[in-house]
Amino acid sequence: MPRSLLRTPPRVLVLGLVTALGALGAAALPAGAAPAGRFQERAAPADAPYLDARRPVRERVDDLLKRMTLDDRLGQMTQAERGGAAPADVTAYRLGSVLSGGGSVPAENTPQGWADMVDGYQRGALATPLRIPMIYGADAVHGHNNVYGATIFPHDIGLGATRDPGLARRIGRATAEEVAGTGVQWTFAPCLCVVRNDRWGRSYESFGEVPELPSAMTTEIVGFQGERLGARPASILATAKHYVGDGGTAGGKDQGDTQISEAELRKVHLPPFREAVKRGVGSVMISYSSFDGVKMHGNKYLITDVLKRELGFKGFVVSDYNGIDQIGGGTPGLTPERVTAAVNAGIDMFMQPWDWKDFITTLRGEIANGHIAMSRIDDANRRILTVKFQMGLFDHPYADRSWQRTFGSDAHRALARRAVAESQVVLKNAGNVLPLPEGGGKIFVAGKNADDIGNQTGGWTLTWQGSSGPITKGTTILQGIRQTVRPGTTVTYSKDGTGIDRSYKAAVAVVGETPYAEFMGDRPDGMGLDDQDLATLAALRASGVPVVVVLVSGRPLDIAAQLPGWNALVESWLPGTEGRGVADVLFGTVRPSGRLPVSWPRSASQEPVNRGDGKSPLFPYGFGLTYRH
Ligand code: GLC
Repeated sequence: MPRSLLRTPPRVLVLGLVTALGALGAAALPAGAAPAGRFQERAAPADAPYLDARRPVRERVDDLLKRMTLDDRLGQMTQAERGGAAPADVTAYRLGSVLSGGGSVPAENTPQGWADMVDGYQRGALATPLRIPMIYGADAVHGHNNVYGATIFPHDIGLGATRDPGLARRIGRATAEEVAGTGVQWTFAPCLCVVRNDRWGRSYESFGEVPELPSAMTTEIVGFQGERLGARPASILATAKHYVGDGGTAGGKDQGDTQISEAELRKVHLPPFREAVKRGVGSVMISYSSFDGVKMHGNKYLITDVLKRELGFKGFVVSDYNGIDQIGGGTPGLTPERVTAAVNAGIDMFMQPWDWKDFITTLRGEIANGHIAMSRIDDANRRILTVKFQMGLFDHPYADRSWQRTFGSDAHRALARRAVAESQVVLKNAGNVLPLPEGGGKIFVAGKNADDIGNQTGGWTLTWQGSSGPITKGTTILQGIRQTVRPGTTVTYSKDGTGIDRSYKAAVAVVGETPYAEFMGDRPDGMGLDDQDLATLAALRASGVPVVVVLVSGRPLDIAAQLPGWNALVESWLPGTEGRGVADVLFGTVRPSGRLPVSWPRSASQEPVNRGDGKSPLFPYGFGLTYRH
């Protein structure tokens, strides 16, 4: 289900409304704006200092800012969804940014189709009097995951299991190359949440349950941006998200309330953002969650006093998707009070995908009535423009399509395969049934996740929620097994285990979760395997053949009761498109080195369970087996 159906009126209705209003809007221009000339608005002279790439960024910002009208400044702070705005709207309303929400793709979902789309919006931006380029953002959270055929890397929880910051940096770089070729200049990643309760639907977006793991993996920011923003070609803007405490909500409820002391917040959830700022991250996204009952989107102390002043963050702060609409509780929606609270809290750019025109009108009104000072508006613009100049957007505003040669490349897929292998965590290996022999005998493979690219990539893949099935190019775990065994070895696949008998040396059961994202993945009740998987496992166990269980899941699952009947257990997390990396570990091509990034609960009722909390998990944080030889 497209997210627009979950957060705003049905997408068809929204698009129809926007199109109709857009047509009117283009003719009538926004309130306060006027055809060039009437308000002394003039196109910038070609030799304007801000257009000179040789000048210092600060000088360029100062020069541009003083040329900007109020419309220019309000537009720069506004981000619209591609489905809710046309390039003509970018021109008419001076929009500073456009985004693709999860699964919001051009009709032609290819690198060329994306580059044409993004360049179209950029032409709209450069048609404004001051020719300020827009910046296009998307969630490239485990590769350029909205685009068909992109290399899809393991989700963060699997990368956390690798304990390999260098790998995270290389993945960031590979992702940046695939993103840059499509014209997109900004990714809403990495997520630096510290997951404290695995019931949370976004557990797989966390690198781990202790701050030092996400802090270490902020190297991905350097992969995205380079040593310095814009320092080299295919540098894209990164986003440290979601500030702050999203992984610590009571009960693991997505967008819930993090009810801990400020000292605990500073000890557990703040360190990854401090590290991200040190690495020069150019943007920070605010969390939907609340801290101690106060919605983060309205928390001036934590955004302005802590993030901007104490941590010294110099980039710009962006809201989450309609995130300001929840400030103060009650019925969500855009109100003057919420706009004022969010702007004055220190948010600089506003992700208002569908009601961005209302946002601009409301913001203009709140300035006119004195609730928002122009100094705050100018600070927000200064931050946004500084990042755009640092990125080189004014000097190279269009897609560099030469990077399309790297899209889904063998080199990127080899990197992803290596990441998959390093992320596998062997939790049980009775009788050293692993590694499986590559040759001789027959191997039986079962389970709904053995031959399903959609299930092994998980949420945020092609669509917001992800989906089962052959949704993109890649290698399933079953295909990886078939590619690994020696010729003459029989590999039989039966999803539900039908046909298993004692002629097989081993049975590999690939089970676990199907895709989900955000609050759709919250598990307030059970965290066990579904009936389909339990039936498959029962059939395999009844055969007497050694059973190797491979769990494809975005979190630890409640499997303590079934574990004694399994000979081996490998947690595969959400490996992405390169399923051969799982076979690399199953057959010993790569010795397992993965270690748990989260504590594994004895049962769901034990959640939250974390390192040092005095509880006794089934498997502790950092646990992982390897092979003797
Ligand atoms: C979402 C998510 C955020 C994402 C944004 C844009 O609601 O919370 O992680 O970057 O919308 O898709």
